[in-house]
Amino acid sequence: MSDLHPVTDIHPDIDRILISQEEINARIAELGAQISADYQGEELLLVCILKGAFVFMADLARAITVPVQTGFIAVSSYGHSTQSSGVVRIMKDLDQSVEGQNVLIVEDIVDTGLTLAYIASLLHDRHPKSLKICALTNKPQCRKKEVTIDYCGFVLPNEFVVGYGLDYQDYYRNLPYIGVLKPSRYAQSHG
Ligand code: PRP
Repeated sequence: MSDLHPVTDIHPDIDRILISQEEINARIAELGAQISADYQGEELLLVCILKGAFVFMADLARAITVPVQTGFIAVSSYGHSTQSSGVVRIMKDLDQSVEGQNVLIVEDIVDTGLTLAYIASLLHDRHPKSLKICALTNKPQCRKKEVTIDYCGFVLPNEFVVGYGLDYQDYYRNLPYIGVLKPSRYAQSHG
């Protein structure tokens, strides 16, 4: 037998599963149906905030029945300065104009809200027809900047979660569920 752990088994670094693959799939089907109804007769540009949202957006896009186009934007925080200023750096901008388009920003998690507030303001200034936000997960207790989440998958407790796009040092994004990372895993790497 192989020593490899199939991604469907609980990963040894995961303390417990918070949201199962089945729960995620079911919620995305609901979100897709709601979004499709809300944009009936319209087209939609889904804007993925890299990297974390790529897993969610791939599934969400396939749960939406109105015509969609896709855009990708990558941002990087300026370390601790982001915590106070909310300034983020655009690492990769959209390839297309959003002017006159129905834009739906797709995010994996809203924590302080600083990233989304910045991106929403940036895209708003480019004159889309409409601008909404869809976040798979939300930690409202961590908010520093208020953002309106139009479509929200799950509210999370304030724990260190990974999986389904959420990472620790770029690992665990491929887990098909959202789970709590064992503290020993991140304590280790700090020495
Ligand atoms: C995560 C997440 C959001 C942001 C949310 O991205 O994907 O973009 O943090 O945090 P905030 O609400 O406090 O701004 P991260 O910077 O970890 O990059 P990643 O998407 O590449 O993992």
